[in-house]
This record gives sequence, C-alpha cells and structure tokens, in this order.
Amino acid sequence: MYASFKSIGAYIPDEIRTNQWFVDRMDTSDEWITKRTGINQRHIASDDQTTSDLGANAAKIAIQRAQLEPSDIDLIICATISPDYFCMPSTACLIAEKLGIRDTMALDISAACTGFIYAMQTAKAFIESGMKKNVLIIGAEKLSSIIDYTDRTTCMLFGDGAGAAVISATENKDEAILDIQCSADGSMQDLLLTPGVQSQEKPFMQMKGNETFKVAVRTLTSDVRSIMEKNNLTNKDIDLFIPHQANYRIIKAVGDALKFDDHQKVVTVAKYGNTSSASIPMAINECYEDKRMTKGDMILLDAFGGGLTWGSALVKFSGN
Ligand SMILES: CC(C)(COP(=O)(O)OP(=O)(O)OC[C@H]1O[C@@H](n2cnc3c(N)ncnc32)[C@H](O)[C@@H]1OP(=O)(O)O)[C@@H](O)C(=O)NCCC(=O)NCCS
Repeated sequence: MYASFKSIGAYIPDEIRTNQWFVDRMDTSDEWITKRTGINQRHIASDDQTTSDLGANAAKIAIQRAQLEPSDIDLIICATISPDYFCMPSTACLIAEKLGIRDTMALDISAACTGFIYAMQTAKAFIESGMKKNVLIIGAEKLSSIIDYTDRTTCMLFGDGAGAAVISATENKDEAILDIQCSADGSMQDLLLTPGVQSQEKPFMQMKGNETFKVAVRTLTSDVRSIMEKNNLTNKDIDLFIPHQANYRIIKAVGDALKFDDHQKVVTVAKYGNTSSASIPMAINECYEDKRMTKGDMILLDAFGGGLTWGSALVKFSGN
C-alpha cells in the first residue's frame, strides 16, 4: 500500500495587517520590514476565532476536494504551536468535533514550522503499515496569540492561517508520495522558543533571528540536496519548489543555491508572513487554486523551525 496526496484546502482569516500597522506602533519602517523579510502584510484571526476554527475550515475544503465524507477519515493529525488549549484537549480533537467526526484517532504534532511535513510523514507511515486509509493532516496557527507585539524583532514576521490535506491509501505506485525525511536537533533549542508554565516569563515566542536565519539557510540547502540525491532527481525533475515561507531572503538563498528557476519557486510570504505549520499547505493550496499545480506534478517541500526541526518531501500531487 502507498500513501498519495489526494487533496488540499486552506483557510485564511479576513483581517489584513499591513506593515503600516507596525510602523504606527513601534520604531520600524515599511522599508526595513520589506527589505529584510519580503513581507508586506499578514492575515490575523478575529478575537473569537481559534486555531481549531481555522483548521476545521481548511479541513472541510480538503475533505470535499478528496471527494470524501468526514466519516471516511480514520486519522486526524494537526500540526500546531498555537493550540486552542494548553496541553489538552488537543486541537485535532476540537477539529474532529467541528467536522462531526467521532470515534477516530486524533492527535497534535508539535514540530513548529516543520509540523506539516512531520504530519505527512506520520500519515504515510500509518497508511503504508495498512493501519489507516484516509488521513486528514492539518497545519493551523493563530500565531497572533503567542506573539509579543512589543518585540519589534519578531512580531512583524508572523501571521495566522490554516491548510489541510487528505493523504489516502492507493495501490498505484505512480500516485505515491515519493519520499519524506524529517530531522530534529535539540542542541539549538534556544534559537526559537515559547516559555511555558514552568517559566516565569511571558508565554510569547522568542527568537534569535539572525542566528536562526543562518542555520535555516545552511540546513535547508543540505537537506534538499540529500533528498534529491537519495532519489536520483535533479532540479529539472521538480515542477514546484514549495519551501516554508519564513523570509524571502531565506527562500531566495536556498532556491539560488539549489539553482531553481523562478517559475519553479513558490513564494507567498509577502501576503501571509510566516504562518509556521500552515505556511506550506497554504502555499500548496494557492498553487492548486491558481491552476499552477495539476495532477501528476512533482512537488518538493522543505521546512525548518523551532526545536530545531527540519524536513523535506518529494510529493506527487494526485488530486483532481
Ligand atoms: C528577523 C530578521 C528579519 C532580522 O533580519 P537581520 O538581517 O537578521 O537583522 P538583525 O537581527 O541582524 O538586525 C539588524 C538591525 O536591525 C534592527 N531591527 C530589528 N528589528 C527591526 C525592525 N522591526 N525595524 C527596524 N529595525 C529593526 C536591529 O536592532 C539591528 O540593529 P543594529 O544593527 O543597530 O543592532 C531575520 O534575522 C530573520 O528573518 N530571521 C529568521 C526568522 C525565521 O525565519 N524564523 C522562523 C524560522 S522558521
């Protein structure tokens, strides 16, 4: 049995927060933010919207596009670092309830910006082992709830949103997700962290931006090289290179090092900022809705985030 990427969906909250919002409140400028990050705006969830609301909205679209009913889903995995509740219940359980899915295994994954790739790897393993048939994977974030809006070095980077995909079992090898690799290294845990209840600090995200930037470029470039070599692929075999959307300069540096052409690179960071685990599925969804991605396309995903975690995936899109 193989795992295939059947469908994609996304939900992006309505409110747009432009760079001017930050300029009005702190010592920064539109020019600085645009030049250093490539971000012009980000979307922010309303006060009464939670991460599970965003995730459930994206999931409904993915299930419908997979031509399935919610009752066909036999595993729900939600990647998030901004869950509705601390520890429990999991955001995946809340999404299950919002979709009307009961008696189905549901769990959260905490792998920061690499969360969607970790979720896909987990879905693939469950399917290939024969344990599950239709796995709903979600990357959902209300990062605005864990951002310190007095910290000018991080707050302008992040936005809210969600993306979801259905990964289904198939006997057709041509439809299979080709390969996924996931890694972690806790020795650099202090680069990106959110203090929890055992700390006296405020529960806001903290980041050593400059150091993170350098490690991200180095790690992503070598990780993509390794998955391509392992599968005997060159950049000519890739239709779309969809990296985690953290900073345009990171995407450009990695894309240039790997010699991808502009038409292969997918860049959405200007509109959405960094939405952590949601950024890759939101970008895939945009390619799908713009008809930039069609059935059979080979997509290369790569992500890097707090933990540290990182991962890459070679995915054949097998939806309609
Ligand atoms: C955060 C980031 C945009 C900062 O860009 P940078 O080029 O590394 O900038 P630095 O942190 O070296 O800061 C340069 C200067 O800008 C200043 N600065 C920081 N934030 C600023 C802001 N919002 N507006 C204006 N100036 C700012 C700094 O204080 C520093 O000033 P100094 O030179 O007088 O000390 C960049 O490091 C980054 O994107 N890092 C990775 C983020 C990321 O991807 N995180 C998630 C991983 S998934």
